[in-house]
Amino acid sequence: MELFENIMRKAAGIILSATEREEALQEICTLLRSRVDHYDWVGIYLVKGERSLVLGPYDGAATEHTEIAFGQGICGQAAEREQTYVVQDVNKETNYLSCSVHVKSEIVVPVFKDGQVIGELDIDSHQLAPFTDQEREYLEKLCAMVGELF
Ligand code: SME
Repeated sequence: MELFENIMRKAAGIILSATEREEALQEICTLLRSRVDHYDWVGIYLVKGERSLVLGPYDGAATEHTEIAFGQGICGQAAEREQTYVVQDVNKETNYLSCSVHVKSEIVVPVFKDGQVIGELDIDSHQLAPFTDQEREYLEKLCAMVGELF
């Protein structure tokens, strides 16, 4: 996947040269959304306190879900279970928080620091079932790099 190899190189550059974490996270969100056609919303949620996620930098339309409890929606489940969630069809999910009627699929990848989830990358797509296993692996590697910012 040449596209993702390029994205990884760019992201590594952003992370290595970062002086401000927020700025680097914003650049990564924008990089992903602008490079991948099926990414329509890309954001970072950060863990606050024991069991809450707060929206950090994002690229895409504003969302009402700026704070999500662990266990709630795809984001809350990924944080609680400390694992990637790939939802190829959000309409088949019962525990899902809708941001827009246009969103058809979503991938959420946790960001770890010292073995703890400290945040997650959330990507919404207007396409049905667009995510591949390889893409998920790249995004997990990217989130491992993002963890180095913390
Ligand atoms: N759909 C998410 C909520 C966050 S928005 O996608 C930005 C969920 O079910 O947790």
